[in-house]
Amino acid sequence: ATARVAVDRDAVVAQIDRRIFGSFVEHLGRCVYNGIYEPEHPTANEDGFRLDVVDLVRELGSTTIRYPGGNFVSGFRWEDSVGPRDQRPVRRDLAWHSLETNQVGVDEFQRWLDLTGSELMMAVNLGTRGIEAALDLLEYCNHPSGTTLSDQRIANGTEKPHDIRMWCLGNEMDGPWQTGYMTADDYGKLAARTAQAMKAADKDLELVVCGSSGSSMPTFGDWERTVLEHSYEHVDFISCHAYYQERGGDLASYLASSIDMQYFIETVVATADHVGNKLKSSKKIKLSFDEWNIWYLDEHRESDEVNHEWRYAPRQLEDVYSVADAVVLGNLMITLLKNHDRVASASLAQLVNVIAPIMTEPGGAAWRQTTFFPFSVTSRLARGEVLKPRIDAGTYSTAVYGDAPLIDSVVTTDGSDAAVFLVNRSQTEAIEVTVNVSELGVASVTEAVTLWDDDVYAKNTLADQERVGLKALEGVVLDGGTLTVTLPPVSWSAIALA
Ligand code: AHR
Repeated sequence: ATARVAVDRDAVVAQIDRRIFGSFVEHLGRCVYNGIYEPEHPTANEDGFRLDVVDLVRELGSTTIRYPGGNFVSGFRWEDSVGPRDQRPVRRDLAWHSLETNQVGVDEFQRWLDLTGSELMMAVNLGTRGIEAALDLLEYCNHPSGTTLSDQRIANGTEKPHDIRMWCLGNEMDGPWQTGYMTADDYGKLAARTAQAMKAADKDLELVVCGSSGSSMPTFGDWERTVLEHSYEHVDFISCHAYYQERGGDLASYLASSIDMQYFIETVVATADHVGNKLKSSKKIKLSFDEWNIWYLDEHRESDEVNHEWRYAPRQLEDVYSVADAVVLGNLMITLLKNHDRVASASLAQLVNVIAPIMTEPGGAAWRQTTFFPFSVTSRLARGEVLKPRIDAGTYSTAVYGDAPLIDSVVTTDGSDAAVFLVNRSQTEAIEVTVNVSELGVASVTEAVTLWDDDVYAKNTLADQERVGLKALEGVVLDGGTLTVTLPPVSWSAIALA
């Protein structure tokens, strides 16, 4: 089979904002404890952070990191997490039914971010707490000095303010599982008042109001409309959360998961613009896709170490990802980039051990899951502007989405270098794709990698940590303005041009 992709230099979606390559660290399972933090590990630094994990996070290339939850934030008392470590309380975390020792808190996490070269995106608790606690946390983190809480931060050893720019107003407040969940009306009012107060403290903050926790929620759409009717003028972003998994052996539909993400984005954009137009606002609300990933959620309901004893760092949500999962993840990144004019920020959920690209063993190794590769390559190669190419490809039949295109692609360029990202969703055929890159002014191929395997369910595990990795994409030819590549079945590929 063959396909054609044409790149129009003027079809610019957006200038790349590095926040599109964000990730997420929640106090959940072994993400923080026995994940990024393990004081007894041979690579641990003086704060107890594993430096082998820090190296992998740097290689992954994640930028802004959302913290400390997730569902966890809806019971979080931030004051517990600062000050002398030996005096911090141990609490019950109701979201994940585990023990929270508070040995990692706001100040330590900022030091970890400095090691990884990432930026903090903080969530406030609007589940069990409210405006006052949010304002106190903001003062503790961002005020330079000379107030009670900023001086407390300095006394705790953090001289420089954290200067956190992006703040989430709670988490998934529509979900009945959320501690303190609310109706859209109640949450919209609370979010508006919290945002108004936070911006009274610092008008340049960027605030994210909770959208639906998924497009399958019965209130999807209505929730966004009501919440924005209350909060539109006070907030900058609305959140989107989406997780995908293969269900019932239907790999064909699963490989086309991006179609669902596209539908989700278009619906939220339409709803936000509907409210904005009704309010006669000149402002456009951006989307923060601050939870997205593959998550075998159905399976976890049975198998996780939850709801019995109160445990420290239980093994929860530890999905092991396949080649097919990595191809879907690479395609979801393509979709985020194609919608980058409205999706200004995104967070892969999550980063370490918990539905994560990086896995660790206590006292032992840290390794890359299959999904690590498309994320790290995209973050490294995507530079400058996103261009939306025209794709002329065949389709295949899916049970969920009807006929789905066999190929998906996005292109980026910074004027001299360019990158083409491609997915082949066919399970049976290699596809020869010709890409018209004549408008990009490039003359050579500098890198061509692909993620595929004869076994689409191959995985990296503790026992076999390097079973799956990137392969060279063979036979790539750039002749004049035409790039010709052959994409293996069920593959994700990236070609860098200069
Ligand atoms: O990322 C795991 C969980 O998924 C988060 O805590 C929650 O916000 C979502 O339901």
